[in-house]
Amino acid sequence: MTGLQTNQRIDSRRLWDSLMDMARFGATPKGGVKRLTLTDIDRQGRDHFRAHCEAVGLTVRVDAMGNMFARRPGRDPDRLPVLFGSHLDSQPTGGKFDGALGVIAGLEVMRSLDDFGIVTEAPLELINWTDEEGSRFGHSLMGSGVWAGVYTQDRMQALADLDGVTVGAALRDIGYAGPEPAAPFPADAYFELHIEQGPILEAEGKQIGIVTSAQAQVWYDAVVTGRDSHAGTTPPAARRDALVAAAGIIELVDRLMRARGEAGRGTVGRLNVMPNSCNVIPGEVRFSVEFRHPDEAEVERLAGQFPREAEVIARDRGVTLELTELFRIPAQPFDPGCVDLVRQAASRLGLSAREIVSGAGHDAVYVARHVPTAMIFVPCKDGLSHNELESILPEEAEAGCQVLFEAVVARANRAL
Ligand code: GLV
Ligand code: MN
Ligand code: MN
Repeated sequence: MTGLQTNQRIDSRRLWDSLMDMARFGATPKGGVKRLTLTDIDRQGRDHFRAHCEAVGLTVRVDAMGNMFARRPGRDPDRLPVLFGSHLDSQPTGGKFDGALGVIAGLEVMRSLDDFGIVTEAPLELINWTDEEGSRFGHSLMGSGVWAGVYTQDRMQALADLDGVTVGAALRDIGYAGPEPAAPFPADAYFELHIEQGPILEAEGKQIGIVTSAQAQVWYDAVVTGRDSHAGTTPPAARRDALVAAAGIIELVDRLMRARGEAGRGTVGRLNVMPNSCNVIPGEVRFSVEFRHPDEAEVERLAGQFPREAEVIARDRGVTLELTELFRIPAQPFDPGCVDLVRQAASRLGLSAREIVSGAGHDAVYVARHVPTAMIFVPCKDGLSHNELESILPEEAEAGCQVLFEAVVARANRAL
């Protein structure tokens, strides 16, 4: 049978237990997760995920960026697959659900289809994208970005972490440098379930966010170079303090953000001070900068204004600034047909829902360049994410997973 019965419910208990199982890989004392991409902990989580996929008969492929694709055949071999998934890597002080929810809910969709004896018309593929977070190598949406052709594999594989380990070496070390190139293949649709990571759904008491688009962003790598010198003997006029200049630039990021009101976003999240010794005036500071806004014209303006004004601060302080734009992502609207399937699923299930723009970046943003895409959000406690205390309720996970199930099955069985 291929039609969807409205009494077909995913197994909420199994979903929750599987989420908690995955959260054991990299569990932190504060109840969060540290599962940095391409580390041995990530490998353990991936192996666990792969074993559970294979246990339900899925065929798992890995591409050269370590992206994992777990396929369930459809009835019609000519149909393109319906894709769904998210990421299993986390921030250094991450939560249990950012990314893992979309992957583990995808596994629950596959298991539920088996329970109900459903063979969809189109094949299905559950995906774990490599390095969504960007926290280890400084570049988010890496696996999906290469898959979508936004970044070259060579450039991404050459990026190194703070210890000098490259993406390519890390992929080989954990045994996830797969044989097939990371490149887009034809697919019918992509759905990604994710926690909102912000406060809107919770504040409005809504169970489901129907994500219509994701906001624009621009990221930089900044290196300020001054001169190391003795803290006790170097008088004010002779100081070329890279950290003081960086502080001015960080304050600029915050000012430019605040000038844009409620919708403004601007962050320096990573700072590396050299030589990082109490009695040496810092000679080099390397830091990240990112701006985001729902209106991509604002991001374009920031991309003009920020480098100009940062340069003035560096010059005034007698240091040099090397600013590298890592990437600029335009606002990404999602596919109206796929978004509508999410809307219809929420409505049929009697779940309260609202349309929402994603503040966070997601693999869906790059996948959407090639494949009709939609996202489903569920609320998280206090809108808190990228924090070990990130938390959702089992019934919130269940609601999101049920919407994912219905949207995927509807798409995979649609009349062509
Ligand atoms: C991904 O976590 C992001 O930076 O939005
Ligand atoms: Mn995420
Ligand atoms: Mn994240």
